[in-house]
Amino acid sequence: QRHLLGIEGLSREEIVGLLDLAGEFVDLNRRVEKKTTSLRGRTQINLFFEASTRTQASFELAGKRLGADVMNMSVASSSIRKGETLMDTAITLNAMHPDILVVRHNASGAVKLLADKVDCSVVNAGDGAHEHPTQALLDALTIRRNKGRIEGLTVAICGDITHSRVARSNFLLLNAMDARVRVIAPSTLLPPGIERFGVEVYRDMREGLKDADIVMMLRLQRERMNGSFIPSSTEYFAYYGLDEKKLAYAKPDALVMHPGPMNRGVEINSTVADGARSLIREQVEMGVAVRMAILEALSRNLPNA
Ligand code: CP
Repeated sequence: QRHLLGIEGLSREEIVGLLDLAGEFVDLNRRVEKKTTSLRGRTQINLFFEASTRTQASFELAGKRLGADVMNMSVASSSIRKGETLMDTAITLNAMHPDILVVRHNASGAVKLLADKVDCSVVNAGDGAHEHPTQALLDALTIRRNKGRIEGLTVAICGDITHSRVARSNFLLLNAMDARVRVIAPSTLLPPGIERFGVEVYRDMREGLKDADIVMMLRLQRERMNGSFIPSSTEYFAYYGLDEKKLAYAKPDALVMHPGPMNRGVEINSTVADGARSLIREQVEMGVAVRMAILEALSRNLPNA
């Protein structure tokens, strides 16, 4: 494919192919000499209209480790501040002949609109509450490395489902890989029609976590709540925050994940986040490898490749 805009549209075989390729990059990234040359001579621009630590840093490292020239576009000091639109920004950058644009935007669908206007490959680094495909892929790689499989596992995704692009991409990917997906959230944080994603819905942590293999916690995305009901941190933690007591409802070997950034004491406490069953730091490591795999796979379809 020319772009990676979502998990939607990826086949199971394509997902497995990307995870296998990423596995090779995990080994490369653990060596002293981490660089390879498959993107030598190529230009990658990272265009982030929303804040990011993990995704932007790992895309930058991924491109550089593959030998690309990587430019991080500083949106805060760009002409977007003077009123230039997303499309005019994209068309302007396109005129500089980049090979890959990595884009994060706060509007669902914005990355697809942009991809339709440019000649280069586009990777969705998160668009509004729509999709965050590279996060779902790195989550899948982390699960597969720790559990040996994804198929047949029960994955409980808990928290602000309404505003989470991570949840949406994970529903699509985990269902494609034949995992059993549960969501656990208060009614106020569950979008209408959530069942159409093929998930089981729980409002009680004790029931939703029962026999789960993976517990994936999500942040309350207050910045997307726009005047809707915002629970207090203390009240939210009491019912939906993960601590050792609630984790005990899951399987004894259940593992804990969180895409980050975490709000400690809101959706997860430090004992669990930093404990032996936490995969949170490994998720970050897998993020670099998965993004290298995506860039490498797209580079095979670039002109003159
Ligand atoms: N998980 C994730 O997308 O983190 P960042 O917002 O830091 O990129």
